Amino acid sequence: MAFPTETVYGLGADATSDSAVQKIFDVKNRPTINPLIVHIADFEAISDVADLSSDPRAAQRLAKLRHFWPGPLSVVLPRKVSISSLTSAGLPTVAVRVPNHPIALELLRAAGVPIAAPSANPSSYVSPTSASHVEKGLGGRIDMILDGGSSAVGIESTIVSLIGEHPTLLRPGFVTFEQLQQILPDLQERTEHSADQPVLSPGLLREHYAPATRIALRSELSVTEYPKRVGLIAFDQSGASRDDFAYAAVSVLSQHGQLTEIAAKLFAAIRAQDEMRLDLIVVDSCPAVGLGRAIMDRLLRATAKFS
Ligand code: TXA
Ligand code: MG
Repeated sequence: MAFPTETVYGLGADATSDSAVQKIFDVKNRPTINPLIVHIADFEAISDVADLSSDPRAAQRLAKLRHFWPGPLSVVLPRKVSISSLTSAGLPTVAVRVPNHPIALELLRAAGVPIAAPSANPSSYVSPTSASHVEKGLGGRIDMILDGGSSAVGIESTIVSLIGEHPTLLRPGFVTFEQLQQILPDLQERTEHSADQPVLSPGLLREHYAPATRIALRSELSVTEYPKRVGLIAFDQSGASRDDFAYAAVSVLSQHGQLTEIAAKLFAAIRAQDEMRLDLIVVDSCPAVGLGRAIMDRLLRATAKFS
């Protein structure tokens, strides 16, 4: 079933069951090389999912990050054998987090098992931040959608691997690189093909989050190059009125360009404009620091398909 979390809606199944997890891959049409995040109800349940005794260094790092849970941070640890290897796409590791959402937590407690849950969208489309987004993408193919309203964070969790010589940021998110670096000073950024590491996170190498309509960064095109029907996603009110161009649609994500608000509304705006039969969607940019790093990561993935 699909359920709300503070980041995006997830499509959940019993993480210990091969047949249940297989259904997630089938419904999403997700390549089986792309592992899933496992959700648990509290920090103590980590021992059901991860084998901390096999990697004391990872366990020490995890202890320092404990206060981020429940919250939008996933950590990669050695996998316990009870977790379906399909969940982890055959990797010896598992990504795990405690979501900060009352419905998700109640579901986890009721289920009594760890729940594997990718974002509840067809593979490679924009992640859902409302129950109706899930319904549009997967309705009719899943048993149930728990409706918890709009997701507060709006972009997927930060993923950090705690395994290996240095902890590594695999996916930027609401918990920022800078915040994590204060606690883990040797934190490094993911390099796509570093020789000393195997592919750390296969799914993350793929293009993601793209709408069907062509989407581009506003900074990369001049209005003279615009086709006829163009939608604008502006980060603030002043950006909305900057161009001398009659946009077919304008979405202002935040009156004063506040990053938390931009993140919360970005995916819903992309989806709404994707339904408007536009020739092009142009979207603002921001500096890739703090939460801006996650916002620009998602936008570069969305636009990569078209550039
Ligand atoms: O906010 C979120 O994380 C949401 C909500 C539902 O919790 N979930 C989510 O799942 O974004 P998904 O499947 O869309 O993204 C999970 C990513 C995958 O792209 C995969 O690369 C990475 O997590 N991942 C999962 N297990 C991993 C592992 N063992 N090692 C490295 N990366 C892993
Ligand atoms: Mg996803």
